[in-house]
Amino acid sequence: MNRLNGKVAIVTGAGRGIGAAIARAFAAEGAALVLAELDGASAEATAREIAQAQPGARTLAVPTDVTQATSVQAAVAAAERAFGPVDVLVNNAGINVFADPLTMTDDDWRRCFAVDLDGVWNGCRAVLPGMVERRAGSIVNIASTHAFQIIPGCFPYPVAKHGVIGLTRALGIEYAPKNVRVNAIAPGYIETQLTHDWWNAQPDPEAARRATLELPPMKRIGRPEEVAMTAVFLASDEAPFINASCITIDGGRTALHHE
Ligand SMILES: NC(=O)c1ccc[n+]([C@@H]2O[C@H](COP(=O)([O-])OP(=O)(O)OC[C@H]3O[C@@H](n4cnc5c(N)ncnc54)[C@H](O)[C@@H]3O)[C@@H](O)[C@H]2O)c1
Repeated sequence: MNRLNGKVAIVTGAGRGIGAAIARAFAAEGAALVLAELDGASAEATAREIAQAQPGARTLAVPTDVTQATSVQAAVAAAERAFGPVDVLVNNAGINVFADPLTMTDDDWRRCFAVDLDGVWNGCRAVLPGMVERRAGSIVNIASTHAFQIIPGCFPYPVAKHGVIGLTRALGIEYAPKNVRVNAIAPGYIETQLTHDWWNAQPDPEAARRATLELPPMKRIGRPEEVAMTAVFLASDEAPFINASCITIDGGRTALHHE
């Protein structure tokens, strides 16, 4: 408890899934929190749920589209007005765009990069000037194990997620002298609506679910709370020398050659 006391944080895509779990964990650790989310109603609902579970929690839901730089800047301004300078940004908002490279539309390509890579950059550049000026800040980018490994048929999502790691490393190095840390988390399969949507899109959803659970050596997939705990750590003062790095949360799956 209180590991983020006194800190002001923004979490993008905080209306559900991993982002909502991070929002709950940050509030439980004492952060004042802006939930920056495309779906304003889900952000409001998550903020209400946090307020009920944790009386005294300071939350603000701000409808935000991470593909629009001005929208993210407005969320940062709202956070500053409500709570003060932003100490932590979690760039979590993301979408799956899984297509065949040669039949994929231009719109699929642009949609993927607009959310999964431009969205992360829009977040970073909205908070970096203030963090650099104050010589303090932690940015946590939610990448994916698709940032290191390729699953056929998932193009161009892994290309964008590789970019998130590149952006994390580049900005982590650029702003290290200013004491601003930029790190990534690479989750493997985590049980969220996104994962259920993917299972449901397969010809046999139940077989797809069972096959996914068999993949990690621990024979289960991750929970959003397990990603949130690592986000708390990276955002906190417990990780002052972790920078330009990535923590994988996949139960060991990416270390496995084959069984
Ligand atoms: N679930 C997994 O297995 C998994 C694995 C690896 C990485 N990830 C990554 O974790 C992040 C969260 O995934 P999730 O499973 O919780 O997804 P989710 O679909 O459950 O939640 C994503 C949230 O982001 C919001 N969002 C989408 N576009 C947005 C935009 N333009 N602006 C603001 N908000 C927007 C959605 O409304 C939603 O609330 C994503 O970056 C995803 O790529 C997920």
